[in-house]
Amino acid sequence: MVDRIIYQLQNLSQSYRDRVVVQIERLEIFEGEILALVGPSGAGKSTLLRLLNFLEQPTQGLLRFEQSSLNGSFPPLEQRRKVTTVFQTPVLLNRSVAANVAYGLKVRQQDKKAIDQAVAAALERVGLSKLAHQSARTLSGGEAQRVALARALVIQPTVLLMDEPTANLDPYNVKLIEEIVAEENRARGTTIVLVTHNVFQAKRLAHRTGLLLEGRLVEIAPTPTFFEAPTDPRTAAFVRGEMVY
Ligand SMILES: Nc1ncnc2c1ncn2[C@@H]1O[C@H](COP(=O)(O)OP(=O)(O)OP(=O)(O)O)[C@@H](O)[C@H]1O
Ligand SMILES: [Mg+2]
Repeated sequence: MVDRIIYQLQNLSQSYRDRVVVQIERLEIFEGEILALVGPSGAGKSTLLRLLNFLEQPTQGLLRFEQSSLNGSFPPLEQRRKVTTVFQTPVLLNRSVAANVAYGLKVRQQDKKAIDQAVAAALERVGLSKLAHQSARTLSGGEAQRVALARALVIQPTVLLMDEPTANLDPYNVKLIEEIVAEENRARGTTIVLVTHNVFQAKRLAHRTGLLLEGRLVEIAPTPTFFEAPTDPRTAAFVRGEMVY
């Protein structure tokens, strides 16, 4: 089977006030893969995810998503809606858990019965059926992150971007979320780009892993190669847990 490319980046850069924070010569992301991005704080990981979610325009370069080549424009709404992000700290509406999960379907104007069914299934999947009517503001950190995941999955995204989704969570919730993410990828072929500080999480989940340093992609390889036989000495140092600059 030929791997299909879903994102193609060429000479892509993002600068803020003349400071270049992301500069990627070339990156292809394949349909249906789980790609982990690791790297120290400030490396540009979140900025790259914002570009992949079309929340910002790159300063320069090519970002191609599916068939559309984006040069100085955002893709049409229909395509933008195929991509969603789960952030490190979920931002939930001050409404019930169920209303939060339903939100993305409502803006897509699905009918009420279909929405109710999809919401119930999504809450079941993250183990929160019992909390459907609770106010989202009263949830624990782990519950809130599971609601954020349910809200992302309910729209059946083509691409799921995750920015440190388990950074503040206890082992129980980390495991639960990792299992759901892996299952989503297996069952629906959802493309997943996961930013994580946790190298063990990258090892557990990702098909490929990439290292960003100072906005540049130092190395990207199949996960076993990345961890066991990296080409770049900076990757080896990062994997060993040594400080890298
Ligand atoms: N809107 C902005 N304006 C100016 N500078 C920004 C903006 N967004 C990000 N930066 C800078 O870009 C650099 C990369 O930030 P980014 O948030 O992408 O890093 P990161 O790899 O996600 O770090 P962390 O692991 O701490 O989340 C940082 O130096 C940050 O200060
Ligand atoms: Mg970040």
